[in-house]
Amino acid sequence: MPDAFRHETIRIEGGSGAISDARIGESNLRFGQLDFGFDKLDLGADVKEANPGSDECNLRSARSNPGSEVVLDFYLEDCIPGIRKLVEPGSVDVVVTSPPYNLGIEYGAYDDTVARDEYLAWTVKWAGVVKDAMSDGGSLFLNIGSKPTDPWVPFEVAEVLRPIFRLQNVIHWVKSIAIAKEDVGDYGTIVSDVAIGHYKPINSRRFVNDCHEYIFHFTKSGDVSLDRLAIGVPYQDESNVKRWKAAKEGLRCRGNTWFIPYETIQSRVKERPHPATFPPRLPEMCIQLHGLDKVNIVLDPFMGLGNTAIACVRLGVGFTGFEIDGVYFDEAYRRAKSEADAK
Ligand SMILES: C[S@@+](CC[C@H](N)C(=O)[O-])C[C@H]1O[C@@H](n2cnc3c(N)ncnc32)[C@H](O)[C@@H]1O
Repeated sequence: MPDAFRHETIRIEGGSGAISDARIGESNLRFGQLDFGFDKLDLGADVKEANPGSDECNLRSARSNPGSEVVLDFYLEDCIPGIRKLVEPGSVDVVVTSPPYNLGIEYGAYDDTVARDEYLAWTVKWAGVVKDAMSDGGSLFLNIGSKPTDPWVPFEVAEVLRPIFRLQNVIHWVKSIAIAKEDVGDYGTIVSDVAIGHYKPINSRRFVNDCHEYIFHFTKSGDVSLDRLAIGVPYQDESNVKRWKAAKEGLRCRGNTWFIPYETIQSRVKERPHPATFPPRLPEMCIQLHGLDKVNIVLDPFMGLGNTAIACVRLGVGFTGFEIDGVYFDEAYRRAKSEADAK
């Protein structure tokens, strides 16, 4: 059962964005650039109560036009009815999200122990709603992990999404890696063995430590052009830059293994009070790969602590997020606000 509906907004002046009001019909609640009726409401679990007389009002499209305001909306609301009611169909350019993994993780409000069939049926449902919200050229970056005793979840999720989306790229989010000096050979700055990043150690004789998760890149057509060099890596060998035309910028495509470590923290309860987050750098890279010049609005249906929102603040693009847990919601808003205030 989600906590009672709430809505918070952050506005960033002079980012790369502006708002165009795409309200349809009459509404008590205003989402326009100049006429915004509320910042915080407790309307009960059903958004409709907030908006008597119309199912269609409140549809909104945040636009990032140079020189104006970027708006980030945080909704304490189930994403399925929430997106249907609050997000204009076809308006979302990028979705970066990480749904619950159905691994029995202990969240606050969400029960992660539902039967797998039920979980997969629900996955199909939210994915359909997300697809309707996406533009034809949009990208869905779906982060999902597993555990050694239940390694199939990412594959089962990808399989049930097969009739809905094209799987354009499969990216491995590498959380930790060990590189032996002897495997690298004579290689510039690597002078000894390297073991970097954080992982949860598994004490087992049959399983190895789990150091990665998937990022499935789904699109509607399978043919969305990407800005590969936006997250490119510099060529090690300068002579390649001269030889290949494509190497002109001195960068090459990063490929599908992304090393993104968690930040080191002292206290999990205080600094990361959520059992399953990704670092802001992950959504940041996804949004940049999609192509920042094509991004007006980013959606995260399963917002957690708001790391996608933080990425949007850093990149100056509009954001809409949903979360059913009031504690995570508050923390997401607080963290994104403090990131925006520090800008
Ligand atoms: C894996 S976590 C997302 C973590 C997030 N990526 C981060 O970095 O903080 C999944 C989140 O989805 C939330 N959730 C579960 N069902 C939901 C629903 N129907 N609508 C919105 N949020 C939901 C859970 O409370 C949980 O916080």
